[in-house]
Amino acid sequence: MEKVFALPNGEELVASVLGPGEGRGTTAVQHEIYSFLTRPFDPWMVPTEGGFLAEFLAGTHDPSLADTMLVGRIDGTVVGTAWHGTDRDLPEMGGYGFVFTEPEQRGKGIAQRLTELSINGFWAVGGQVSYLGTVNPVAQHIYEKHGYRHYNGLTYRALRPGTDADTFDETFFGRAGDGEIREIRLGDIGAYTGLVMLLEPVEWIVRDYTEAMFYAPPVQASGCLRPFFNSMTRHAASPANAWKVLVNDNGRLVASANLWAPTHAPVAANATMEFQAAPAYVDRATAVIEAALQDAAANDVRAVRACGVAEARLAVLREAGFVDEVVQPGALDLGDQRVDVTVMRRDLG
Ligand SMILES: CC(C)(COP(=O)(O)OP(=O)(O)OC[C@H]1O[C@@H](n2cnc3c(N)ncnc32)[C@H](O)[C@@H]1OP(=O)(O)O)[C@@H](O)C(=O)NCCC(=O)NCCS
Repeated sequence: MEKVFALPNGEELVASVLGPGEGRGTTAVQHEIYSFLTRPFDPWMVPTEGGFLAEFLAGTHDPSLADTMLVGRIDGTVVGTAWHGTDRDLPEMGGYGFVFTEPEQRGKGIAQRLTELSINGFWAVGGQVSYLGTVNPVAQHIYEKHGYRHYNGLTYRALRPGTDADTFDETFFGRAGDGEIREIRLGDIGAYTGLVMLLEPVEWIVRDYTEAMFYAPPVQASGCLRPFFNSMTRHAASPANAWKVLVNDNGRLVASANLWAPTHAPVAANATMEFQAAPAYVDRATAVIEAALQDAAANDVRAVRACGVAEARLAVLREAGFVDEVVQPGALDLGDQRVDVTVMRRDLG
């Protein structure tokens, strides 16, 4: 779909909305968008993000992802971009990113037009919540104009118009059956981001130690889609990096466990595990952890370590067969205090 906007300065912005599978390839068109966004001589994104962007533009990614690429052009030249990803089968939760306007074209309303097209398109396919992360005040201003509200750390979320923000998490991630365990997939980008960003269980503090994601105000989450991209890159790099998720009867991702084993042979048998669970599914966290550990054991992982700072989270690890290995005094800086980090280990035999 193409939409033409008359910008306040009189220029014409032609916005292409490339739905899932549309306008993808490896021609000069995609090369232009890729270079425009990654800024090879002035990079602003981490390499893993650039790697995923290349797949999104080429259309070679796992088909569980339904992504929309938005490209704005003035006189045929790319001047702005944006991207939104959700799940192909259940487009309820999404992630917004790759929002960039050519420096000389800023302030003309380009990002606002693309953001409006993106979020309205998501509501039209049944979207319930969209996440993004930014510390840029200009971007924050734009996102707030289009329904995004500050959520956690540098994360913003837009809830489907008419949704009660105060009860959304509890309702959306509420109990609906015991859930089924399956492999993570790219279409989970919004769902996993929502799970990692959840404010509850507050007392856990740690969300993803590897990615430095914590919820312990005033210490804030350090990213939004980035933990997903980083963990997904590790997952794809080796079968030892098992990643299992629990999906409830409503198709919603409510718990996750992923492993990261170094690729160098002498240390490859030692993995680190991260896990998350929505409050209504904490009792099912051990099942998803066990599924990930079994996968890892089948791929020669011998010892798995996970850490926590709060008893509630450590209790889940104990229940999953982990034993205390070491306490690192004051290893985590929570801003107003330093807290001990307990490293726990489970041997896979
Ligand atoms: C953020 C970015 C995409 C904005 O693009 P843009 O096309 O210039 O944005 P627009 O012209 O649509 O809108 C700019 C708005 O910000 C406002 N603005 C400008 N400076 C501002 C500031 N310091 N604080 C708050 N708002 C500001 C403008 O007034 C305008 O809003 P208005 O129309 O309500 O008056 C662009 O600056 C950019 O590419 N930055 C680098 C990449 C980035 O940070 N991306 C977002 C992270 S996910």
